[in-house]
Amino acid sequence: MNIIEIIEKKKQGKELSTEEVYFFVEGVTNEEIRDYQTSALLMAICLKGMSHRETYDLTMAMRYSGDVLNLSEIGRTVVDKHSTGGIGDKTTLIVEPVMACLGVPVAKMSGRGLGITGGTIDKLDSIPGFSSDVSDKDFIRLVKTVGMVDAAQTRNLAPADKKLYALRDVTATVDNLSLIASSIMSKKLASGADCIVLDVKCGSGAFMRDEESAKALAEEMIEIAVRAGKKCTAVVSDMNRPLGYTVGNALEVAEAVMFLAGVKQDLRLRELVITLCNEMYVLSDLYDEKSDVSSDDIRKQITECIDSGAAYKKFREFIKAQGGVLSFIDDLLAASTESYESGNSPIMLSDYDGYIEEIYYNDDDAAVIAKMDAETIGRLSLLLGAGRLRKEDEIDYGAGIVLNKVVGDYVEQGDLLATMYSKKKRSLTKAKRLFTEAVTYTDNEEFSSEDIIIDIIKR
Ligand code: URA
Repeated sequence: MNIIEIIEKKKQGKELSTEEVYFFVEGVTNEEIRDYQTSALLMAICLKGMSHRETYDLTMAMRYSGDVLNLSEIGRTVVDKHSTGGIGDKTTLIVEPVMACLGVPVAKMSGRGLGITGGTIDKLDSIPGFSSDVSDKDFIRLVKTVGMVDAAQTRNLAPADKKLYALRDVTATVDNLSLIASSIMSKKLASGADCIVLDVKCGSGAFMRDEESAKALAEEMIEIAVRAGKKCTAVVSDMNRPLGYTVGNALEVAEAVMFLAGVKQDLRLRELVITLCNEMYVLSDLYDEKSDVSSDDIRKQITECIDSGAAYKKFREFIKAQGGVLSFIDDLLAASTESYESGNSPIMLSDYDGYIEEIYYNDDDAAVIAKMDAETIGRLSLLLGAGRLRKEDEIDYGAGIVLNKVVGDYVEQGDLLATMYSKKKRSLTKAKRLFTEAVTYTDNEEFSSEDIIIDIIKR
């Protein structure tokens, strides 16, 4: 067997055998296969596709290319949650403490953001003192004592995927369903969860721009999970507009804090949080123990956990347990509450040492916001310094945008639409222009916006 024959076979649209897929992944991991050969095979895969079996083999070969975590010491079913990436997606920060509060152990490995989409670890790292670098021993200890942990993927998890992803990024071979599904699932399976709830984003701010391809990705990932003997549910959710009203790391932590503390909750974000928690609950051993629990009961338990402040308490316990400075959270909440009550931007990073620019609505007619394009807002926050173009880029944790008005809101001349934060003064002018491009208005007051939940797919 050699790589040239494998490339030739895929070029002709033939199905690769399990041995050929493993040969390829091993060769990539130990660097025996050259980057140009890997790139050629990736392109052939993009053009000719892969069967479910090949995609599964690719996933498993990548899963076993490095460490595979064993979470059996926790002694309970571990349910993981994964988002395929979106703009303003702070869902994990809220879902995790809710699940821990309900008694479902949360043992999560999260990633950093790249390009226009953010990552949970960057958001958590914006909290002074917070350590996302957790040893294996502490990882298990935190799940057992606090009920939750969220750590960066510092271990040698799926190294083959790291190498393949870096090449895909520079050879226009990212957007293939089998390659995306195997990349995501290899890491999920390596990080040891028993069950997985996927939040597959769909829209302009996501990999999958239309419903058909988002559902196809969801189905492919479920297929892999089922073949690997794991339970998996996929929630397909809208990403045509930013989620919630903040984009940027510390700003999103502030929104999550406002949400958990019951000060301000974006309704679509609330619906997504409840839906994801519900699906996680159903996969957990709690559900197996209480088989007569109705879906109304589950929803009630989840909303009580949020509305009673119990999830907020758990969030604080989690932040403290991983070294985060709680006074930072207190200050965020105080600044947010104060500005919200006085009718200004609902979130203010009070000691932000950069430039702050407010954007007002200055058209003559009153109108309703019909669209706020997620991709453009993502590009805008990247420009402000909230994200990174390359892995090694530094990010400004305080940078980003707070949306005072969101889709469906009625605006009048002079209304404050948004506040932007950046250390790069010159970026603010360009970002303002992007904001104008991102927003579309309508004079139809009957306007109704799309639901956040597009579909829930399970087997
Ligand atoms: N996220 C991943 O981890 N891999 C992909 O290919 C796409 C999104």
